[in-house]
Order: sequence, then structure tokens, then C-alpha cells
Amino acid sequence: MPLFVVNFKTYENGTGKKALRLAKIIDKAAQNFRDTDIDIIVALQPADIRMIAGKVSIPVFGQHADPISFGPHTGGILLESLKEAGARGVIINHSEKGLKLKQIEKIIKKAKKMDFPVLVCAPDLKTGEKIKKLQPDFIAIEPPELIGGKKSVSTTKPGLIKKSVSKLGKDLIVGAGISKFDDVKKAIDFGANGVLISNAVVNAKNPNNVLKDMLSAF
Ligand code: G3P
Repeated sequence: MPLFVVNFKTYENGTGKKALRLAKIIDKAAQNFRDTDIDIIVALQPADIRMIAGKVSIPVFGQHADPISFGPHTGGILLESLKEAGARGVIINHSEKGLKLKQIEKIIKKAKKMDFPVLVCAPDLKTGEKIKKLQPDFIAIEPPELIGGKKSVSTTKPGLIKKSVSKLGKDLIVGAGISKFDDVKKAIDFGANGVLISNAVVNAKNPNNVLKDMLSAF
């Protein structure tokens, strides 16, 4: 099942009422692909999950979780809290919110008991191979230097995608700088099972046009 994950990060367009408006645009665009097997997902800030999860049909993910359980962890983000708010999974170890391997392991173990999918980001293949041993549901390779930029991982690092697919398996997701049909098409042709995107959609003048362009690559 290919994944198309839009990470709202903490961009203004991905926050609060603007996040709801964007999530509804993505939800509407997803309706055109409901007969396909593409899973279109939005990753939201914790405070926006409950408000948005109940208003869209596409899955909502969290952007981070802490390796904690119930207790005195001020400011922590619990998997239980994300799930109860309506999230259907979580991204962890994004390069903008990194975790140690032991913390990632703890979160994955706990999430499995909760039947709560975890997509773990890795900045490179070496880290990806260590994460693979922890058996997450999904791994996303995202070279940090390309994130938010104009050059995509598909056009600048085709070899990384191909090698990562062969080492990490066909469930691999890739991200960083992906902004158009060609970037998505190349990622899929190199064997990736989906893409993780942010800037190109969240900060687009016309997100719907960008979505249609990129989704038509699947
Ligand atoms: O989580 C996806 C993100 O890191 C990729 O960012 O802006 O390069 O699509 P962007």
C-alpha cells in the first residue's frame, strides 16, 4: 500500500484553523484516489489532532512521541494521548525531532502493543539499517540537507533510494525536497513505497494543484 504522507510540521499553514483548511483540501483530493491503494496521510501537531481527525476521512498521524508512559512527564507526548485524540499512527525520529536508538526501540515496542503504526525517519542508510532491526511499521529515509530545499532526494540521490530499498525492503518511504510529479515518479520507479512531503504542499499557493500533480505519479 503506497504511502503519501504530508507532514504539516509547525508551518503557519499547518497550524490550527489553517491546518484544518489544508487537511480538508488533502481529504478532498484523496477522494479521487479512494479506489486506489494509496494511503494519503497528514501528520499534525498534537494540539490539532483531535480537531482535525474528526473532520477528515484520511488518516491523521502525530509528528513525534516521547518514550514515556503515564506519569510526571511535563510536556511529554504520550502514544496513548495521540491515539485517543484520533491519530492512527505517528512519525518519530524526524531529523528535526531526533531520538536515540534506545528511545526509538522503546516507542516501537509500546506502539506494537497498542496496534499503533510507527513511521521512523532516518537521515541515512546506516541509521536506517539500525532502525530496521527494531521492526517499525515503516522507515523513511530523508537526507537532512535536502529537507525543505529545491533539490529532491529522487533527483540528487537515486542511488541512495535504490540501495535503501534493497537493504531495508519494499516498504521504504523517502522524503526531502520532493515537490512535483517527476520527483514522486522517480522515487517509485527506484523502488520506494511512498513519499514523505512537507514544504511543497503545506506552503503551496494552490495545494490542490500540487497534490493532483504528485498523486498522479502513483
Ligand atoms: O517530513 C517530511 C519532510 O521532512 C520533508 O520536507 O519540505 O523537503 O518536503 P520537505
